[in-house]
Amino acid sequence: MYIHSIKLHNFRNYEDETFSFDPAVNLIVGENAQGKTNLLEAACALSTMKLFRTGQKKEGLRFGTETGSVSGVFSAEDRDITLELCLSRTRPMEVWKNGVRLRRQSEAAGLLRTVLFCPDDLMLVRAGAAARRRFLDAALCQLRPQYAAALAEYERVLAHKLRILKDAEEKPALLDLLDDFTLRLCRLGAIVVRYRAYYVRKLAGRAAALHAEAAPHETLTAAYRTVSTVTDPYAPVQAIEADLQRHAFSHRAAEIASKSCLSGPHKDDLELTLNGVSAGSFASQGQARTAALALKLAERELFRDEDGAYPVLLLDDVLSELDRRRQDFVLNRLGTGQVLITCCEAETAERSRAGRVFQIAGGRILP
Ligand SMILES: Nc1ncnc2c1ncn2[C@@H]1O[C@H](COP(=O)(O)OP(=O)(O)OP(=O)(O)O)[C@@H](O)[C@H]1O
Ligand SMILES: [Mg+2]
Repeated sequence: MYIHSIKLHNFRNYEDETFSFDPAVNLIVGENAQGKTNLLEAACALSTMKLFRTGQKKEGLRFGTETGSVSGVFSAEDRDITLELCLSRTRPMEVWKNGVRLRRQSEAAGLLRTVLFCPDDLMLVRAGAAARRRFLDAALCQLRPQYAAALAEYERVLAHKLRILKDAEEKPALLDLLDDFTLRLCRLGAIVVRYRAYYVRKLAGRAAALHAEAAPHETLTAAYRTVSTVTDPYAPVQAIEADLQRHAFSHRAAEIASKSCLSGPHKDDLELTLNGVSAGSFASQGQARTAALALKLAERELFRDEDGAYPVLLLDDVLSELDRRRQDFVLNRLGTGQVLITCCEAETAERSRAGRVFQIAGGRILP
């Protein structure tokens, strides 16, 4: 799995620029605010159909422009695929695959597999549960299109239910709709819970092994925590759905009183412990970082298990945040996959054995 080229037109601070990548290590070097992360955002968009820094795709359009695009050519399972994402200020994004317009964006998600690793991920252990849910979702949405579809629908219905709870005071008749939305959420939520449970089980094993390599005297565990009434998250979805309903309906009055959705997998967490105690509360700075590295590298290995090839690794500024020992831990595990690494100083270049180096300034590649 690797990206041959990416062409940007009116995307972020790029007007027109084309990158032709090495199949192994690519280094993207430049001063602050020159467009390094913007390029990784484009690469990520080609795999997730989302911009990782915003939920608003039109924010990706270069200031003052109405339309723009991100096109990429990549090889996946021995065939070359061209994807073009067309952004517009007034219309939803269009996705073209090999010159044919797709009806749904989700048809293109996950064709290109990427794992993004940025400094925020080093906070994965310390951050709130939302960050860990995003971490799980980013992988699952690429690996399991059915998960991506269920999650998107779950989020849509959840937003709708929230609207009902907020507006019910003024328009009490809205509450007639509430139970129907709760039931729909439980049905979709059960799919979400089951996929997450299976994924975390695989992830936990890999992360523990990687963590043991980096820190032999510590044991990392990762466990999936979902709605308390779910007795077996690996059970068939109907059983999980019934468990979710029990919890949701016992919180019905509380949801109306608090005007918020209190029950459901949108509250899930990935609970991490180090040597048996909560990593979020007790890990040192260094321990938390090592655990985060283990989790991210485990994610990448699960992609490889699935596809037989590494996903494209997008390392945004991560190396500069790490001490030398942890840098080596990451670099030594890159294996044979393609990597796009951004950094401010070229010093990291030699240590990462870059095949190609791009110098970027003001949204242009310097000759
Ligand atoms: N829609 C947009 N149109 C034009 N410029 C934009 C747009 N969105 C962001 N930018 C600009 O892109 C510039 C570079 O962003 P980017 O995050 O890629 O920098 P970077 O090279 O990664 O810098 P750093 O080293 O600080 O992380 C910023 O100055 C920002 O203002
Ligand atoms: Mg950046």
